[in-house]
Amino acid sequence: MEKERKLIIVGNWKMNKTVAEALDLVQGLKRELAAVKEVDVVVCPPVTAIADVSKAILDSNIRLGAQNMSEHNGGAFTGEISAGMLKEFSVRYVILGHSERRQHQKECDGLIAKKALAAHAASLRPIVCVGETLAEREADQTKEVVGKQLEGSLAGLTKDQMVETVVAYEPVWAIGTGRNASADQAQTVHAFIRQVLASLFNEAVAKRVRIQYGGSVKSANARELMSQSDVDGALVGGASLEVRSFSDIIKNSI
Ligand code: PGA
Repeated sequence: MEKERKLIIVGNWKMNKTVAEALDLVQGLKRELAAVKEVDVVVCPPVTAIADVSKAILDSNIRLGAQNMSEHNGGAFTGEISAGMLKEFSVRYVILGHSERRQHQKECDGLIAKKALAAHAASLRPIVCVGETLAEREADQTKEVVGKQLEGSLAGLTKDQMVETVVAYEPVWAIGTGRNASADQAQTVHAFIRQVLASLFNEAVAKRVRIQYGGSVKSANARELMSQSDVDGALVGGASLEVRSFSDIIKNSI
């Protein structure tokens, strides 16, 4: 299918996979996806597997992402990892503000904006996640919530930086639940996100930004979701943990 923007499909492995398991998975993906040129394919292993996965995908079209990073460049921040440290392993993308981090680590929009700026300063491309809870959707607050998250999480980015930023729309009620947003529901919010980007930056920037959908993406629903005009890729959790399910999502999206 012909898309205005190149699709980007990202596997978020979350807190899964030993190094050996991670290597098994990427070797399988390399075999399955060797011929895929139409989609930017990115895997985000846990940080413990990043060094080995980085080496394993050197001769492939698969790119590396991280699941989080610090807003600081270095210093006394126990347990944290900086953008510069990720760059040492050829990491190109970093997921920021995933709803699990917003919920469990209490990450707020202001912090996510600082991280996005730190990522760009190190030439890492942030994947900034936004999305409403079920209660917010049922109270008809989706646009208000997503609009506010975008404004706060993208604050301070230049137009050039925004073009190199990916936005992931992940309705919280769809993550890990098996209940994906319908293609219509996703398209409606994606079009709204693009409108917000046009007002925060400008039309030209908004047209170029890739907006991913995330939340129970699987091979059976990938094609319909990806066929929506403002859906430019997917952020995949559960279904990215196996070679077959992740490579099928990618093949079904082309
Ligand atoms: P899921 O997770 O695909 O398992 O719903 C998506 C995500 O959290 O990015």
